[in-house]
Amino acid sequence: VPNEELTSLFDTSDEWIAERSGIRARRLATGPLVATQPPVHPVDGLGTTATMAVTAASEALGRAGVRGADVDLVIVATMTPDQVIPGTSSPVAAQLGIRGGAMDLNAACAGFTYGVITGAGFIHAGADCVLVIGADTMSRATNWEDRTNAFLFGDGAGAVVLEASPGQSSMLGWDVGVDGSLAEILYADHGSGMVMKGQEVFRRAVLAASESARVAMDRAKVEPGDIALFVPHQANLRIMRAMADRLGIDATRIASVIEWSGNTSSASIPLALAQSIADDRLHDGDLVLMAGFGSGMTWSTVVWRWGR
Ligand code: ACO
Repeated sequence: VPNEELTSLFDTSDEWIAERSGIRARRLATGPLVATQPPVHPVDGLGTTATMAVTAASEALGRAGVRGADVDLVIVATMTPDQVIPGTSSPVAAQLGIRGGAMDLNAACAGFTYGVITGAGFIHAGADCVLVIGADTMSRATNWEDRTNAFLFGDGAGAVVLEASPGQSSMLGWDVGVDGSLAEILYADHGSGMVMKGQEVFRRAVLAASESARVAMDRAKVEPGDIALFVPHQANLRIMRAMADRLGIDATRIASVIEWSGNTSSASIPLALAQSIADDRLHDGDLVLMAGFGSGMTWSTVVWRWGR
């Protein structure tokens, strides 16, 4: 859905949206764009968090050469589950043939990096293989009549397979944090769209996520110049650039898909990882800095040595 299509819903322009956010288009799983998106039940044939999660996970498992039966745990990071009960990870596990274990994880847009740290923890505790999926159907949590934030969001899913291996862990450093007193700057109640104080989110996100990235790099004993690829949560191109600037990471090292994806919440970091591989920008041995941040306000950073 290109920016131009949003002009049928509210007063805006492609230039305004692109200049403020870097976004030119977003993908919507839930069908034609209408001002009021009805709730989508998983069986009604439209795309859901589970269907996108299964598509992404199948590709990741195929590339890793791993069968669903070999997965000890699947984590679905999402804040847009298809049903209240059960977790989206259960139907996802069923479709992938996973019996090892399944859980949802909601840390808003920081969900994927929380999932990677959790998965690495399970491997440290003895698991052999953990599948981490980030999937969100943001179009169902968006108020399509609110021009101040509807243009930001899109739907998507991405996945990684974590496997135990001898030697040093690939996760060199990590950091998590929360400031729950900031929950009111970005929230959605059951059955209604998101409410956001945009400038406050912008300011807090840059400060908190940059500080978290610094802590994670310190723990990993690496310098900003060692980072081959910086993969921030794709919230807004200006936030991503401001973070890189504060951290002293060259802007050419930023992985960005926001131009065509919008903000896909938990899916945004794995989407940017996959795009970087497709573009031959990510290679075995590279140091990757993944920085998630989101509503809550939560944040979560991982320094990872990439490898297949
Ligand atoms: N089209 C045209 N004009 C608009 C639109 C629109 N879609 N939306 C707002 N405007 C107008 C406003 O009404 C305002 O007009 P006024 O000056 O006459 O009052 C003007 O544009 C400026 O509005 P601001 O809100 O001050 O615009 P700002 O420069 O702050 O940009 C934005 C807004 C892009 C939302 C910015 O605040 C931002 O990116 N914030 C972070 C949002 C974000 O990333 N959220 C998610 C992160 S966390 C997570 O992923 C869960």
